Amino acid sequence: MTTFSEHLTHSNSNFVKIVEVGPRDGLQNEKTPLTLDDRKNLILDLMKTGLKNIEVGSCVSAKWVPQMADSDVLFSQLPQDPNIQFSILTPNLKGFESALAVGCTEVAVFTAASESFTRKNINCTIDESFDKFSDVLALAKTHNIKVRGYVSCIVDCPYEGAISPEKVAYVAKRLLDMGCYEVSLGETIGTATPDRVKKVWDACLAQIHAEKLAGHFHNTYGMAIANIYQSLQQGIRIFDSSIAGLGGCPYAKGASGNVSTEDLYYLLSKMGFETGIDLDALMQASQNISQVLQRQNPSNYANAYWQTRCA
Ligand code: HMG
Ligand code: MG
Repeated sequence: MTTFSEHLTHSNSNFVKIVEVGPRDGLQNEKTPLTLDDRKNLILDLMKTGLKNIEVGSCVSAKWVPQMADSDVLFSQLPQDPNIQFSILTPNLKGFESALAVGCTEVAVFTAASESFTRKNINCTIDESFDKFSDVLALAKTHNIKVRGYVSCIVDCPYEGAISPEKVAYVAKRLLDMGCYEVSLGETIGTATPDRVKKVWDACLAQIHAEKLAGHFHNTYGMAIANIYQSLQQGIRIFDSSIAGLGGCPYAKGASGNVSTEDLYYLLSKMGFETGIDLDALMQASQNISQVLQRQNPSNYANAYWQTRCA
């Protein structure tokens, strides 16, 4: 089954698919968990922006990540729009069954190219994570649910240091061979520079078609946009981003948010790529969540946009 956003991606080589991960990656690291209503309002705002893919939460242990508690309840309260694909992160069968029970039609499984990170994040080895995912993928197939894969620590791991590009390619290919329709490569701690990102894509693209690969860049050292530019040069056309640059990972201390959706939009639109985004609605969503969190928006473009509007 081809979704609306896949149709756009494949029928128009100038189209870049953006997966908005703010409600999940963005909020999973907040010191004080947001209320369900605040999480829902963020997603309702994002639904007005033209974004076609929104990761709304994760069905993980609330003891491990309290910020994502009740993501299934949240999902069930959202209006469904046939042009918007929601997804939920599910590390195992239990999480998948929760997502399935509320009618979610896309989930994401997540592992890493680093053993230590996988242990800290999902309490198992990389091989064990694949055992859990094979149960998820088998059940997903019988219910016609799409499964996306994530590989974390594609350049550096907070516990092991540098990770080999070949290991990243191996884990990504394994996820695709198992049945994931797309794999997002997570630069989890934001230390990468374009030269190192190039080597990761070189290794992956030797085995995997670019259409199956997404870039997920955290912006700790301000390198995310440079890394996305590098990725675009190598043919990658799918990127994850977070409204107002929210985000981080509870198991990667010091890592900051994802590239902001606003800055990604600016880069892509100025380079002539289509995203389907309504700029005013995007800026409204980013202003609303920044107000809820009482936080200065780190997006350069959002700040410039509001300064120009107020001048
Ligand atoms: P575990 O302790 O090994 O699991 O945790 P378990 O199977 O032994 O079960 C222990 C307890 O957890 C039991 O409850 C289970 O029922 C419960 P108890 O009997 O103690 O009351 N449990 C669950 N509850 C809800 N949903 C579930 C679930 N599974 C078990 N799905 C587990 C394993 C994976 C659950 C745990 O390690 C976990 O929840 N980890 C959180 C991982 C996470 O959310 N990390 C952040 C997202 S990944 C990320 O940010 C990176 C990414 O953005 C890309 C990048 O930037 O690199 C994607
Ligand atoms: Mg992330």
